[in-house]
Amino acid sequence: MPNRPVFRRVAIVGLGLIGGSLALAIREHGLAGTVVGTDRRDDETLWARDHGVIDEMAFSAADAVKEADLVVVAVPVRATRDVLEAVRPALSDHAVLTDVGSTKGSFIQAVQAVFGEWPERVIPGHPIAGSEKSGIRAAHGDLFDRHKIILTPPDSVAPEALDQLTRLWEGCGARVLTMSVDRHDEVLAATSHLPHLIAFSLVDTLAGEDDNLDIFRYAAGGFRDFTRIAASDPIMWHDIFLSNREAVLNMIDHFTADLGQLRQAIESQDGERLLQVFSRARAAREHFSKMLSGQAYVNTEQQNQVTFRLQPGGAAQGDIRVPGDKSMSHRSIMLGALAEGTTEVTGFLEGEDSLATLQAFRDMGVTIEGPDQGFVRIHGVGLHGLQPPHGPLYLGNSGTAMRLFAGLLAGQRFDTELTGDASLSRRPMNRVADPLRQMGAVIETGEGGKPPLRLRGGQTLTGFHYDMPVASAQVKSCLLLAGLYANGDTSVAEPAPTRDHTERMLNGFGYPVTRDGNTARLSGGGRLTGGPIDVPSDISSAAFFLVAASVAPGADLRLQHVGINPTRTGVITILREMGADITLENEREIGGEPVADLRVRYAPLRGIRIPEDQVPLAIDEFPVLFIAAACAEGTTLLTGAEELRVKESDRIQVMADGLAAIGVDSTVTDDGIEIPGGQALRGGTVDSHGDHRVAMAFAVASLRAEGEITITDCANVATSFPGFDRLAQEVGIRLTVEACE
Ligand code: S3P
Repeated sequence: MPNRPVFRRVAIVGLGLIGGSLALAIREHGLAGTVVGTDRRDDETLWARDHGVIDEMAFSAADAVKEADLVVVAVPVRATRDVLEAVRPALSDHAVLTDVGSTKGSFIQAVQAVFGEWPERVIPGHPIAGSEKSGIRAAHGDLFDRHKIILTPPDSVAPEALDQLTRLWEGCGARVLTMSVDRHDEVLAATSHLPHLIAFSLVDTLAGEDDNLDIFRYAAGGFRDFTRIAASDPIMWHDIFLSNREAVLNMIDHFTADLGQLRQAIESQDGERLLQVFSRARAAREHFSKMLSGQAYVNTEQQNQVTFRLQPGGAAQGDIRVPGDKSMSHRSIMLGALAEGTTEVTGFLEGEDSLATLQAFRDMGVTIEGPDQGFVRIHGVGLHGLQPPHGPLYLGNSGTAMRLFAGLLAGQRFDTELTGDASLSRRPMNRVADPLRQMGAVIETGEGGKPPLRLRGGQTLTGFHYDMPVASAQVKSCLLLAGLYANGDTSVAEPAPTRDHTERMLNGFGYPVTRDGNTARLSGGGRLTGGPIDVPSDISSAAFFLVAASVAPGADLRLQHVGINPTRTGVITILREMGADITLENEREIGGEPVADLRVRYAPLRGIRIPEDQVPLAIDEFPVLFIAAACAEGTTLLTGAEELRVKESDRIQVMADGLAAIGVDSTVTDDGIEIPGGQALRGGTVDSHGDHRVAMAFAVASLRAEGEITITDCANVATSFPGFDRLAQEVGIRLTVEACE
């Protein structure tokens, strides 16, 4: 459908692939009253007019830009200055001027040379789209559709000019990003210019070999894929390399040094080093392709929008295994990396949170194979073997990762910065930063004690005793991990029992942690020895199905191999007290952790006052327990749970709002909620606020709902429970997933 014109008259100077495609896109989408075009070669200009690429033609740049309110310079970058000189006298005052070149520093130099300054209506641009084909005959109107366009406006940019130009590109289907000129040139040197240089160089090297015909005749797909870009326009690339000289030279030096190291590794038969580089590269490629397709531990703003749609009714029947425990998966990577020797993990949760932890260790030089269907092999580097990462460690949505990393990085010899997505960036970090500072760590937080965290390396940590003001396993674990690097003893007392996976796993790795009443204690300076870890299914993920089967009439469900560590089983205690029929079968101990199969059958639930001592033991299960409460007879009262307000969302308020959206009234208090059971669950639209457990909890509510429930902002379900939708469907929950960019 045609848009409303954004500009009255657009002049395009240079009718090559990009200029021609932009002219076509503008015309096809009705984004300008008139598109006038000109090219240095008159026959190209004529061709463009005759083939409907432009509305009007001009035979000089100066003629083309007269009265235009947008001028697009689309010539090879080294020709820019001449074009700017030619158009300047004819340019109207209100015209916006932009370009499409691959280097922005050189464009700005040309602008300043011609205009003496950087005018507020000159907005450099670079569409990240193209083809190895060049020229007007290869132009097509959807070249920019779903591609990025980078604009590098001046600080003083005229806002309406930026807005207009943005709308023009968006009208062509592109996504507009803005960044500084220097950043653009660095990023492009690394991601585009260097690969083109290598492709040109490699093909040239091979073409010069004596048996070159054979080389090209037998070249397999890999060679063709890798060298496709060596068929690009030589003049254009000659211009780009000369224009972006500094940034490209930096990248070439960096790459040459790394290539030299690989050469050295091959020469000295250093297989370990090769494996390290290749597995890190493979993982990085997967990581980036996930990031680009918006599925991974990326900023939620960039993620695909995922909506759950649930039909009422449905069932909870079958025999399933939910994915591995999130807390243990994080810790298996952390301790495996810091151990000496190899650690093999089975049952690893391939969710985005634990993958972020895995990636962070790879960024610090640890070789990690997998994950492959829950199997991960970590080549531990010892407590002092981590390497400084090249940039901030991005921990996605995971509070556990950020707090535990703070502990284990506080005592390293190098600086680190920890960042996360929008939700993590709102979570309190002083709870770990303050006690770590008491140990001697130097840590900066963002405003209000929020991420990012910046940790200064090279500090001497001293063990101490800490009485935790809140019952938090993350804080306890953080301090114990810092204690590994501290002089003397570190001990942490908890006001109520919290999950003890860190203590168990440290002991399993041969690092003694003792417990005296409510206090866990260790001495610094020991060593960890790698070994096998079997991660059981996550009881926090099983909880959705425990409630599902408890509230769905006729349900009978078995959950295999679930971790039932007593510091995690609050959900079973609470549900049983509400009348749930849950039995533990086949109880066993695996790798220091108790495990069982859980059988759960439908039973009418009643409201209860939830015992406060159960709160830390069921801390992640409250969203779905609120659904159980809504389906029960009588009122459920939760107190002493203010911690829920600082989880991935404010889980008290977000759940109360979601319940209200499906017709269930509740009363929110500072530290809990009162939910009168027995109300009808109607259909409605629930905003999960990007909180994975809120999203899954309302999916379970559909089993007792009277109408369709729509749950928005569900992409983060992948942080803890990849494949939730399939398992939910398998047991009979009537869930469909809608995803769009
Ligand atoms: C976790 C501890 C809990 C829990 C989180 C995982 C852990 O957080 O909510 O999902 O792995 O240590 P707190 O320690 O902040 O309660």
